Amino acid sequence: MPDAYELVQLKNGTWSVRSTAEGETFHPVVGPEAEAEALYVRGLQVAERMAAHLEGPWVIWDVGLGAAANILTVLRALPAGDRPVRVLSFDHTLEPLRFALKHSATLGYVAGHETLVEELLSTGRIVRDTGPFPLDWELHQADFPTLLNGPGATSWPSPHVILFDAFSPGRNPTMWTLPVFRRLRELAQSSTPCAMATYSRATLLRVTLLLAGWHVGVGHATGEKEETTLAANRPELIQEPLGLEWLQRARRSTSAEPLHTPEYRQQPLSAASWSALQAHPQFRS
Ligand SMILES: C[S@@+](CC[C@H](N)C(=O)[O-])C[C@H]1O[C@@H](n2cnc3c(N)ncnc32)[C@H](O)[C@@H]1O
Repeated sequence: MPDAYELVQLKNGTWSVRSTAEGETFHPVVGPEAEAEALYVRGLQVAERMAAHLEGPWVIWDVGLGAAANILTVLRALPAGDRPVRVLSFDHTLEPLRFALKHSATLGYVAGHETLVEELLSTGRIVRDTGPFPLDWELHQADFPTLLNGPGATSWPSPHVILFDAFSPGRNPTMWTLPVFRRLRELAQSSTPCAMATYSRATLLRVTLLLAGWHVGVGHATGEKEETTLAANRPELIQEPLGLEWLQRARRSTSAEPLHTPEYRQQPLSAASWSALQAHPQFRS
């Protein structure tokens, strides 16, 4: 049987992790660290927003922990100080993280964090007062959509940022449904300003986010031209909101209807979705 994960070298020479079962590379465009920096560090302005956040812990939800490139790169970028950082990482398997630890020298971004990762893998939760900032990092190993609807989810601290990194909707539809993003929007309470970034720019995803109640805009590019998506529970967190031109393109798209169930298919917008989309506050001036 082939190994479940392997190292792949990208065109720019950096190394990334590939799931052989899913046939997908974790950070296929510019590599783990560069993608995490563009999409999450700069795209979500994590350091600036955390520096301006003066009360209570700064809360990060890391959806699709995988080999931890996103979260380790984000943690490295946060300002040092007394402000506590709370991280909730979600994945149904810890195998990619074990794999990354084993290959930390090649992957690079794990370097210096080996002890932290080892402790997280063995205990499932790290609470530390030493280091650049107080850190409380907990693992939730389970099917994410199931967990979101379970009894524990309402006691999670509301997030300031969400790093959303599942496999592609075609491969991993269960993570990209309208009910998942609706539930995430409910849990990202309006009293806590929250922004969520993800690598996809698909019309289907953007419609899903809008119909789930998020404000949605163009996210930071990760490669030369790779546009991504930024969503937020407040319009002021979106620098480049999707506008009327995008709305008309979505209407003509052959793949715009959200996934209502965890089954991938491509369909144009239904009449009900089109009417709900037009009524979204983002398109009413
Ligand atoms: C693209 S990888 C994430 C890469 C990771 N963020 C990193 O920085 O290395 C997608 C991850 O989503 C996880 N995943 C897929 N479906 C899931 C589900 N239903 N529940 C929880 N995690 C899931 C996979 O196990 C995988 O680790």
